Amino acid sequence: MSTYQALVLGSSGAIGRAWLAHFQSDVNCRLAVGLSLSSSPAFDLQNEDSMAHCAAALRSESEQQGSGSFQWIIDATGALTIDGVGPEKRIDALNAQHLLKQFEINAVGPALLMKHFSTLLATHERAVYATLSARVGSIEDNHKGGWYGYRAAKAARNMLLQTAAIELSRKRPLAVFAALQPGTVESRLSSPFVSAGHTIAPELAVSKLMTVLIDLPANGRAHFVDHAGQHIPW
Ligand SMILES: NC(=O)c1ccc[n+]([C@@H]2O[C@H](COP(=O)([O-])OP(=O)(O)OC[C@H]3O[C@@H](n4cnc5c(N)ncnc54)[C@H](OP(=O)(O)O)[C@@H]3O)[C@@H](O)[C@H]2O)c1
Repeated sequence: MSTYQALVLGSSGAIGRAWLAHFQSDVNCRLAVGLSLSSSPAFDLQNEDSMAHCAAALRSESEQQGSGSFQWIIDATGALTIDGVGPEKRIDALNAQHLLKQFEINAVGPALLMKHFSTLLATHERAVYATLSARVGSIEDNHKGGWYGYRAAKAARNMLLQTAAIELSRKRPLAVFAALQPGTVESRLSSPFVSAGHTIAPELAVSKLMTVLIDLPANGRAHFVDHAGQHIPW
């Protein structure tokens, strides 16, 4: 098996940390890089310059070391509770600032990460760019309502990924693009909303998602899949 390089964006979170550890423990992974709000260099989803700076630093390091591009890029960033405000239960709770914040963190920031980091994705071989979405971002699968901002921002994240996948696949026909539902995973994000015993460990989520991603075909578009390999309607 050939060796590969992997990049995890949001490597300080529960899923991102487990994903970075997964790559670091794989003997075939010759370089595993984790970037986050607290790494060095660091990026903030609300500051495009910081993302551009991180991508440029990574590019110049790989040029100096001749290590080449990345076969795996995972964006594990996101938030459900922002500035202490959790998901809206009813339409009365809608607030412009909070909705905009949801879009900034869960859609616009991840789109700008794609803008700056997709240039590091390998071109003439199989490569994967995956972003952590959520099943609740599916418009068709919305049967319960509520969680307006988070749902809408995840739907926007999916559309931004799909649109980028179509464009980026022209130069990278072997690249796989995926929006992921990781399961209900034990993390800072999920803990206020799920009781113990109803979550899976981040390590298990990552191992299931890796199994799914390894089998996904490159088809010039993005996939929306869960940790069991089921396709989710957009
Ligand atoms: N856990 C679940 O059950 C579940 C279910 C469905 C989807 N997801 C999705 O999976 C992804 C990861 O979630 P998680 O459960 O691992 O949550 P988490 O532990 O809270 O991790 C979230 C990550 O996003 C980063 N982040 C948040 N705001 C940022 C900002 N302004 N700039 C840079 N980074 C920022 C966090 O950085 P800091 O650590 O520095 O704050 C952290 O690395 C999210 O997109 C979430 O929506 C999770």
